[in-house]
Amino acid sequence: MAFEEKMEVIKSVEPFVEQFISEKMKNPEECWQPADFLPDFADPDFHDKIQILQKSIANVPDTVLVSLVGNMITEEALPSYQTFFNLLKGMNEERNVSSNGAWARWSRLWTAEENRHGDLLNKYLYLSGRVDMKVVEKSIQQLLHNGVDLQTDGDPYHGMIYTSFQERATKITHVNTGKLAYKSGDLSLAKICNTIAGEEALHEKAYKFFMGKIFESDPNGGLAAFVAMMKKKIVMPASLMDFGTEKRQYLNYVNITQKIGAYTSYDYASIIDHLVKNWGIENLLGLSDEGKKAQDFLSTLAERYYKLAERMKEPMEMELIWLNK
Ligand SMILES: [Fe+2]
Ligand SMILES: [Fe+2]
Repeated sequence: MAFEEKMEVIKSVEPFVEQFISEKMKNPEECWQPADFLPDFADPDFHDKIQILQKSIANVPDTVLVSLVGNMITEEALPSYQTFFNLLKGMNEERNVSSNGAWARWSRLWTAEENRHGDLLNKYLYLSGRVDMKVVEKSIQQLLHNGVDLQTDGDPYHGMIYTSFQERATKITHVNTGKLAYKSGDLSLAKICNTIAGEEALHEKAYKFFMGKIFESDPNGGLAAFVAMMKKKIVMPASLMDFGTEKRQYLNYVNITQKIGAYTSYDYASIIDHLVKNWGIENLLGLSDEGKKAQDFLSTLAERYYKLAERMKEPMEMELIWLNK
């Protein structure tokens, strides 16, 4: 499909973006804020509260903490995600960051919610006393400095496939990290992870809804985008963290996350499975020959990834980066 036609489809989805915003998204005034979960330094007993926090996080294993730091660094790079979104063709043709268009507004609502995720985790980890904050801060700056390459080539269909996948992946990671925190006795951290996961679930719902509308208008184009993104493989947003340095922090983060079960190759397969079913890929009608081929490819893809996940060996390289020694 020619790019102009894709732009038309994106334009036609705009009322649904509007609908999602008005029905599902909260006004910033009504949202929770990091301060709701953190000790207040103005309280006379703030010392005690910090001691309680440090005591409750004390039994969270180092590996879980490294994984959590990686999640936090990923969240902190959100200026790159808003930029990414607004650079998708057809999303912000006015080239205006305060545009009133539904897509541009969505991009701001979405990233303004994400901003609190990074803030809250960052402050909690800082107060924990277990994290080498300067090293972590360098990683955040490095990642922002390097940007993101989500391999969508500015194509809005690719962008919607990527975000549908990644928001679900992020939700899974936060849910699993919350369970690990709960198991280690840090109920506050578990609550934080679950609260964040709840918002990721909403973002996932939004992107799946928007992409679903694209499939309704342009099933062949939607399928081509889904296949293209699956062939490139979905990379985590923090993948450029070490670019330009000798560090291997990203690999460590990915390995540890896999090892502790916060986000695994099995999850990757399950997300493909879920998205294929959610968009009813196997029942799409009005397909070209290319579209039918894409449909066949996608209907067996999750199965192949499940098999790969079963065969996958334990990750080797694991260093307890980002933590105080
Ligand atoms: Fe987030
Ligand atoms: Fe999100």
